[in-house]
This record gives sequence, structure tokens and C-alpha cells, in this order.
Amino acid sequence: MDFKGRDVVSIRDFSKKEIEYILDCGEKMIPYAKGEKISDALQNKILSTLFFEPSTRTFLSFTSAMERLGGSVLGFSEMSGSSVVKGETLADTIKMAECYSDIIVLRHNREGAARMAAEMSEKPVLNAGDGAGQHPTQTLLDLMTIKLERKKIAGTHVALVGDLKYGRTVHSLSYALALFGAKLTFVSPPSLSMPPEFLVELQEMKADITQTHFLEDAIGKADVLYMTRIQKERFPDPTEFNKVVGLYKVDMNVLSKGKSSLIIMHPLPRVTEIASEVDNTKHALYFKQAFYGVPLRMALLALVSGVPMEEFK
Ligand code: CP
Repeated sequence: MDFKGRDVVSIRDFSKKEIEYILDCGEKMIPYAKGEKISDALQNKILSTLFFEPSTRTFLSFTSAMERLGGSVLGFSEMSGSSVVKGETLADTIKMAECYSDIIVLRHNREGAARMAAEMSEKPVLNAGDGAGQHPTQTLLDLMTIKLERKKIAGTHVALVGDLKYGRTVHSLSYALALFGAKLTFVSPPSLSMPPEFLVELQEMKADITQTHFLEDAIGKADVLYMTRIQKERFPDPTEFNKVVGLYKVDMNVLSKGKSSLIIMHPLPRVTEIASEVDNTKHALYFKQAFYGVPLRMALLALVSGVPMEEFK
């Protein structure tokens, strides 16, 4: 399987077999991500991290992944740190990153920005989130988390809760879960339901889907509760945000209604959707999930650079 030079713009760019291979490679990277094994497979390689929107996990985990493999990182973590504030276009910014580095990671508020960057750049472009569009590396680490924690994805009942309209993580993840034969329940207020184009696609895939507005309908049946933040910054009208904020919250009372094996996941950041009392329970997987972002992104960086996986024993 050849990933050398490939872009990672959408999870749909990869076949099921390719995704399985990436997840296996990610698993192989865990001891390297923890510093228990050492590799300089990406020595002399430079990663550009171009973040036009705020990020903690994606930015830091890509940086950690690159440095754990002996590579270096340059870039900016907010628009004000770039010449975009002087009016430079995204196209020119990408051209510059192409001149200065070997791989480009891009987070942008505009849907389609990563695809445009990938089409322009000879160097691999990894989409770190484009507006309400896609977040494929998050999807891959979410799949890796479910696979490692539950041993299989097929047949797993995943309830995706919260902002399903603007939430790019759930757009990518629901497609990937359907591809792997998971059962899906969408829990959202009517104003934040899964956009019709994604529902049509899932129906064409013959995915097993249920939709509800109530967390109570899903909690008893779910194997995985995938919570999401209601994203204030994506609402055109703040009064619409105020109508739905705080609607869903997992606390000890909600947990008591779930299976004893229930896993709580969240792409993070969380605001009020998961009470801190849940953090120390066996159900809380979200911090471990965030850690898996490092080995998974190490695998992607190595793969698009053409490093043979046999190098990692
Ligand atoms: N999950 C995620 O994308 O988090 P950040 O926005 O902090 O990168």
C-alpha cells in the first residue's frame, strides 16, 4: 500500500483497507509516541503547521508526532502570526509553506480550504479541520480509540451527541463508522441535526441509523457515547446558540443509565457536556483518545513521507 506523497483531506479519500492499514500503523507507533522506543525516521524533514483557527490537541499532537520521529516543525498557531493579516491569500501562504517544508498541516475556517491547498501543493497536505467540513485525522484517531478499546468497530453502537450540523468531527466519523459496520444513533436538537447530504450518503451505504432529540433514548443502548461541544463560533445568530447551549450533559446520573461497559468519547475541547466527576470513572476515554492523536499522526507523517513501516519494530 503506497501512501507516499498523498494528501489527507477527507476520510472519503481512503478505502476501508487503507484505513485499516493506517490504524495498524498507528497502533505500532504507540511505544514511540510514549518515548519508550526511539526513531529518527523523519530526520531532516520539516512540517509546516498552518493554523488559521485555534487548536490545542491537533496542533500539539502534530508537533509532538513530528518531533518524536526526529523531524522539525515550523508554522503559526493563529492568523495574526502570519501575513494573511496584511492581505496575503491562502494560495500564496500555501506556496510559501511548500517552499519551506516537506509536509503541510492546515486548519482553516473555510470549508474546502484543505482541498484547494492540496490541489495547489506538490507536497502532502493534511487537513486539520476545514470549517464545518472535515477533520479526517480526528476520525482516524477516533476509530483507533474504538478499535483498541472495544477490539472491533463492526456492530458497535455509537451515539453521536450534540452539534451534528456544524460539527466536522461527526461528519467524517459517521461516514467512517458506517463503512466499518457500526450502528449509529444521532442525538441533537432539531436545529443542529445531521445535514441531509450526510444522511443521504449514510442511507446509500445502508447504514443502521436512528435519530432522536433525547439523550435518554440513546444512553441505555449505546456502547460508545460520542459527545460534542455546541460550537458557539459556528452560529450565525447568537440567540439560536442560547436556545441549545447546555442541552446535553453527561454526569453520574446519566452514566448510571448506561451499560457498565459504556465508553465516553469527545474530540474536545469540552465545555459543559461532560461533568468533571466523570473524568475519574472507567467510562471516560476522552483523554486517552486525545493521546492516540500522537501515534496516529506519527503513522500518517511517516506514511506520506514514504518511510517503510518495517522500520518500526
Ligand atoms: N479535537 C480537536 O480538533 O481539538 P483542537 O481543536 O484543540 O485541535
